[in-house]
Amino acid sequence: MAAKIPLSRVYHSELIDRRILDVVKGGNYILGPECKAFEEELARWFGMPHCVLSSSWTAAVQLLHLAQIQFGQLKAGDEILVPSLTAFPSIEPMIHCGVRPVFCDIDDTYTIDPQDARKRITPRTKGILPVHLYGRPANIDAFQALAKEHGLFIIEDCAQSHGARWKGKRAGSYGEHAALSFYPSKNLTVYGDGGAILTHDPEIAKRVGMLRNHGRKDKYLHEKVGFNLRFNEINAAVGREQLKVLDDLNAGRRRAAEWYRRELEGVKGMTLPPTDKAGETETVYHMFVIRLESHDRRESLARHLKEQGIESGVHYPVPNHQQPAIEEVYGKQPSLPKTEDYVKRILSLPMFPAITEDEVKTVANAIKQLMLKA
Ligand SMILES: Cc1ncc(COP(=O)(O)O)c(C=O)c1O
Repeated sequence: MAAKIPLSRVYHSELIDRRILDVVKGGNYILGPECKAFEEELARWFGMPHCVLSSSWTAAVQLLHLAQIQFGQLKAGDEILVPSLTAFPSIEPMIHCGVRPVFCDIDDTYTIDPQDARKRITPRTKGILPVHLYGRPANIDAFQALAKEHGLFIIEDCAQSHGARWKGKRAGSYGEHAALSFYPSKNLTVYGDGGAILTHDPEIAKRVGMLRNHGRKDKYLHEKVGFNLRFNEINAAVGREQLKVLDDLNAGRRRAAEWYRRELEGVKGMTLPPTDKAGETETVYHMFVIRLESHDRRESLARHLKEQGIESGVHYPVPNHQQPAIEEVYGKQPSLPKTEDYVKRILSLPMFPAITEDEVKTVANAIKQLMLKA
């Protein structure tokens, strides 16, 4: 049975329906004018000079790392600092390139802890991949300082943070490169898989664009051995329409976060997400994540919500440094105490732009019902 209140719900409009139909009738389906316009509009929106679409975040970053390798900016055996608490795909592309993810702990914002990252730098460290998890920007100033000090590149993982700001500028415009996901639960969706890189480097943009399309220079002239990791016109048309309203959609998420705070402030036994620091962060609440006092409490709350038709989630129950696939490749990883503690106690509540005040109250009341009983 579908949940009465789902964890997320994609944005939809009649205008998007019409745009899809127009593309279908137009007969141009892959890497056409809609894709080109979407790339230009995304680049402008994020304040970056170049954007290249690909079939997912994972695909786009795979192509980015390959381009970095081809230009001598990265090689097998190098290391990239990355938080363990992120979606597993954040680290897959580097591993396929022989580049080792060096897992870092988080701080109380659930984003990579700059002090912990600093401790893990070695002569092989080439880059940092901060993840703006749950829609909150990581500490960009600290990472820029670290990158400058040690000559590292930054790739911002903006899969969950389209539109979040750090000191007034959009996250995704600070690193050498950034990557976006349009997976259906994300703040910007395209009704299917999709992703993109944003970059300051015109040569990287050109190479990623070439590699995603069989390394073509011309229709039957292949300058590189590439892939088919292209983007589709229908998805681009959907993305363009969503981008036009993305600030409003994010405002809906921020409004919902305020309702949750109002309803849940002061409830004993749980910690609300960190608030924004004035003049520093502007979070776009891809998720609204609370932290319970114990694992058992988290589990019983998730069960209680489910019984009431309310979906919740855990992002993520197994941190990447403890994934079997990582142990298989690199052996057992050093422990990351905060990450290991928090993953047992976090719970993501329903969050999407159109969630109503009544729905938030229903979720909050269900939580209070259980929490106040103890
Ligand atoms: C933080 C983060 N990075 C990377 C990805 C991978 O995105 P995609 O599914 O588009 O490859 C996701 C989505 O699952 C994500 O949440």
